[in-house]
Amino acid sequence: DAELGLLTLSIVPILLVVRYFWLPHARAAFRRARETNSMANGALAEAIHSVRTVKVMVRGRENHELYSDLADLNLRTHLRAAKLAQVNVPIVDGLTGGAMAIIVVVGGRMVFSGALELGVMVAFLFYVQRFFDPIRSLTIQYSMMQRAMVSGQRILEVLDVPETVTDLPDALDLVNCNGAISFDQVSFHYTPEISVLEAVSFSVSPGEKIAIVGPTGSGKSTTAALLRRFYDPLSGQVCIDGHDLRTLSQDSIGRHVSMVLQEPFLFSGTIFENIRYASVTKNAADVERAARVVDAHDFIARLPGGYQFVLDQGGGNLSLGQRQLLSFARALVADTRILVLDEATANVDSYSERKIQRALNILLEGRTAIVIAHRLATIRDCDRILVLNHGRLVEEGSHQELMDIDGLYARLCRLNYASFDDVPSSAIR
Ligand SMILES: Nc1ncnc2c1ncn2[C@@H]1O[C@H](COP(=O)(O)OP(=O)(O)OP(=O)(O)O)[C@@H](O)[C@H]1O
Ligand SMILES: [Mg+2]
Repeated sequence: DAELGLLTLSIVPILLVVRYFWLPHARAAFRRARETNSMANGALAEAIHSVRTVKVMVRGRENHELYSDLADLNLRTHLRAAKLAQVNVPIVDGLTGGAMAIIVVVGGRMVFSGALELGVMVAFLFYVQRFFDPIRSLTIQYSMMQRAMVSGQRILEVLDVPETVTDLPDALDLVNCNGAISFDQVSFHYTPEISVLEAVSFSVSPGEKIAIVGPTGSGKSTTAALLRRFYDPLSGQVCIDGHDLRTLSQDSIGRHVSMVLQEPFLFSGTIFENIRYASVTKNAADVERAARVVDAHDFIARLPGGYQFVLDQGGGNLSLGQRQLLSFARALVADTRILVLDEATANVDSYSERKIQRALNILLEGRTAIVIAHRLATIRDCDRILVLNHGRLVEEGSHQELMDIDGLYARLCRLNYASFDDVPSSAIR
């Protein structure tokens, strides 16, 4: 019966209208639930990660309250999302009821007037149920799909961040490297308002060891980051062996430049795996040789299991000095022509520092090295010193030359601090 059929189907547009108004609200609610979930988890992870600082600063109660607020917010947004996800089911059920009511009322009248057989009406009732059953399950699946899409979108947002540093299609794979470095009028900033490096030019010949010194925030680490091509300069160029870094493949830069960072990151795993992190082809003998050279073998041998001693995440079960020595061994095993040490000896006690200083001298032998150092002891051993101030290269020369110029470096040295970190900023200006 066409008329009764059309009447029954008149319910369907209502469903579409409901969906039309539901979708934006539901998506926003699902997104918000995901966001509050990340916020709560992020706060929890940060507090656990920094538990010592939290204890030292007696921040336990405040952090607990902050986390409670976030957890409450998370609960509320999840409840709202759950309501919106479920609200479709009663609506579909209600509409099914409506369709059946139409059949009973309209069809019933037709049966009484003899226009429709009773059997047809009963069949209609069953058909309506069978028709709406799949719609009901589709509705449930549809909410789940919307939820999944919101989660997927957040992942895609991360995946879609454009890569700023990429290989050119015809990038050169530098096979042999002499280790010459040059910075030519390099300028750089992270955010347009704050210029970090301004027209910095210097060059380093193969095998030369230079120190970069300067007050905190003067752009030393940024210089190192540009040399490893973590970023491209905004103007000017950075070259290795006369090749602009942008024309080289990133893999080949990695094969020739290694960096030791101030707080070396160690991974969960054995000491052996950590030392040969960049060079998985090296064997146990190579690893032990490197560890002996940087004077790390003794402490490793004393650990239970020796080289198979398993480190916690971030190397948490070693002292900072020990981690530093392992990172030197790692750089030695990587065996690159160019080595960048960023503040490698800061924050280490003077006994470890002497040990590390010895390790450094061995590590740097025969390589081009850029040492970003705060300690005068480290700086004096270098062939040449570059002095950065507010992103500009202000002085350049040997220790004696710079003392003779009697500029910033001489002033910093005369203050007789063991480290440039201790120099008050009034002395720099
Ligand atoms: N990832 C970043 N995003 C935005 N600004 C940054 C970033 N890293 C550094 N900066 C800014 O760039 C400037 C130079 O930082 P850089 O880390 O190069 O200094 P630095 O000379 O290594 O200092 P320090 O001696 O304290 O290590 C600083 O003013 C800093 O605020
Ligand atoms: Mg730095």
